[in-house]
Amino acid sequence: MEVKKVAALGAGLMGHGIAQVAAQVAKYEVGLREVKQEFLNKGMEMIKYSLERFLKKGVVSEMEMKETLSRIHPTLDLEEAVAEADLIIEAVPENAQLKKSVLAEVDKLAKEEAIITSNTSSISITELASTLHRPEKFCGMHFFNPPQLMRLVEIIRGAKTSDETVNTIVDVAKKMGKETVVVKKDSPGFVVNRILVPALNEALYLLWEGIADRDDIDKAIQLGLNWPMGPLKLLDYTGLDTTLSIAELLQKELDPKYRPCPLLRQMVRAGLLGRKTGKGFYDWTEK
Ligand code: CAA
Repeated sequence: MEVKKVAALGAGLMGHGIAQVAAQVAKYEVGLREVKQEFLNKGMEMIKYSLERFLKKGVVSEMEMKETLSRIHPTLDLEEAVAEADLIIEAVPENAQLKKSVLAEVDKLAKEEAIITSNTSSISITELASTLHRPEKFCGMHFFNPPQLMRLVEIIRGAKTSDETVNTIVDVAKKMGKETVVVKKDSPGFVVNRILVPALNEALYLLWEGIADRDDIDKAIQLGLNWPMGPLKLLDYTGLDTTLSIAELLQKELDPKYRPCPLLRQMVRAGLLGRKTGKGFYDWTEK
């Protein structure tokens, strides 16, 4: 099946970047849907900001920037975003109930042949698919933050996902300039977060147990393992709430050894979620 039109649902940290890559690199027409005008405006602002950075570096020309923006169609109307779409990428907040209700609605409004995907980083693909009458046309399409720069997309099969759906999404991700890995079984944390989240949790324990200070933990991993940013900064960058929900899921569904560090829980309770709330381990209000 050939994908020409895409709908991105959610214009937050991930959704805006996914919409941008779809319009900028794959040159798809993209319906970008949010639930409030304020969120839509914020998402479009982030896209413009990112395109301006690319413009400054010569990655895109003025003309490409304009064309990219003209291919993105912001809307508050779900039907308008999905009715004509060949592919719908759901990137609403990481809450199973919310995602299920959005997906069930999309299933009713989208074309019969349309493929539906979710950018979930933790919720079971099979569980999300259970809300649809087309589970064979559904899979996980997991981008990494920031989607404009990170090269990987994990493609996750649910129990009923068809080969055709997986193949189409591999092609779409490649057209968006991404490398892909196929996760053959729907399993908590998929591949990347199954490895990353325990590593981030250990960084939290090092701080919690007073074994090293924030800056030394980040410096150790940044310089010792060549990560682009240290684990505590990365926690801030992606959002502490996201990591907590993945750690809880790994603990519940795989093994008690994945128990989230009490410091993570405490910081989430205090609203210190990192970049998205302005403060976490670092102060992000000036960035
Ligand atoms: N759009 C366009 N360009 C951008 C950008 C954006 N949104 N964000 C950053 N850039 C560019 C900057 O223009 C800059 O370009 P030059 O070096 O050519 O000047 C470059 O990226 C570096 O930017 P900064 O100086 O702002 O550096 P930074 O450290 O703040 O951010 C980074 C750069 C790409 C984020 C880098 O630090 C990095 O790769 N960090 C690790 C990210 C990571 O691990 N992501 C995965 C998280 S896990 C996840 O997402 C999965 C999950 O389910 C939780």
